Amino acid sequence: MARYRIAWLPGDGIGKDVLDAARVVLDATGIEFEYLPGDVGWEFWKKEGNALPERTVEMMKRTDACMFGAITSKPQDEAVKELNPELRDKGYRYYSPIVKLRQIFDLYTCLRPCRSYPGNPLNFRDDIDIVIFRENTEDLYSGVEFRPVPKAFYQVPGMEKVPKDAAISLKVNSPRGCERIIRSAFEYARKKQRKRVTTVLKANVVRVSDGLFLEIARKIAKEYPEIEYDNANIDTLCMWLIKRPHEYDVLVAPNLYGDIISDLCAQLVGGLGFACSANIGENYGLFEPAHGSAPKYAGMYKVNPIATILAAKLMLDYLGEEEVADRVEQAVARVLKEGKVRTYDLGGNASTLDMAKEVARYL
Ligand code: IPM
Ligand code: MG
Repeated sequence: MARYRIAWLPGDGIGKDVLDAARVVLDATGIEFEYLPGDVGWEFWKKEGNALPERTVEMMKRTDACMFGAITSKPQDEAVKELNPELRDKGYRYYSPIVKLRQIFDLYTCLRPCRSYPGNPLNFRDDIDIVIFRENTEDLYSGVEFRPVPKAFYQVPGMEKVPKDAAISLKVNSPRGCERIIRSAFEYARKKQRKRVTTVLKANVVRVSDGLFLEIARKIAKEYPEIEYDNANIDTLCMWLIKRPHEYDVLVAPNLYGDIISDLCAQLVGGLGFACSANIGENYGLFEPAHGSAPKYAGMYKVNPIATILAAKLMLDYLGEEEVADRVEQAVARVLKEGKVRTYDLGGNASTLDMAKEVARYL
């Protein structure tokens, strides 16, 4: 029997290319994995009107964790045009499978480490080591949206200033939602001996929902006296992240701010080719590169697999294989430092799999 069962969801475009690369590295760890392929993505939207078929979710429930490739998504009107003619005009709506999976499995922690590995020619600086904790199930991603706004809403005090033809999306921060992501960040900081945790909000303007997040953070911070705590406004933080990124340590934010700073920080350490993401809940973990499906490169084995290899590293951590996870990261660091095997984005001409094999060689 394999030690771990892994749901294997390549998705669209280059998803298969990068997951194949992760597989090369995982197989070289010596740990026995069983990989269970699952249907997800644009092809299934077009055929079935569902980019995340129920059978895939059921299969995932029988696994320990999931590796997820990439997904193509398009605005609602374009998505419907590509639907199988038999399903058109039947009210099918496109939902991003990744957002849905985060909700189905309650994967409330989105962990995004952004470290500059010396030798990476795309680094902004060589001394960046930021870890982002992004709340992953609520905030403006609640999915509670209205257009038109139901009449009953207008009876709520304050609503009289909202135009009758407005569209509304609810930013939902719950005490439980705030508390668990803030705790994840502080627990991580304690375990990894990090010095500082910064909340990223706009509590001076979004007083009620971000205010709640801030109030809970201040309370929790007291339980971790060895860790410095401060709060930053999202806008100012974006400036400081460009000016002095090496001074930041652990950042914790509600969903949308977390999404935005994740891309900003990714770009500081080489761009989306390096941006890995862990989606973790109480009972499940899903690991993915944060980049898109880059359809024009699909199947060419040209793109940088490091983000996905680092996502596999995060999966190993999650499974409790921390020593092996560290070795994977050290192998990645070594390949980047030596700079002999590089994909096109790094100025080389190695393939996706060449780069993965080079990482595997140093394990
Ligand atoms: C990410 C992505 C997703 C998000 C998209 C693809 C729905 O940007 O994982 O950061 O917004 O969460
Ligand atoms: Mg994003």
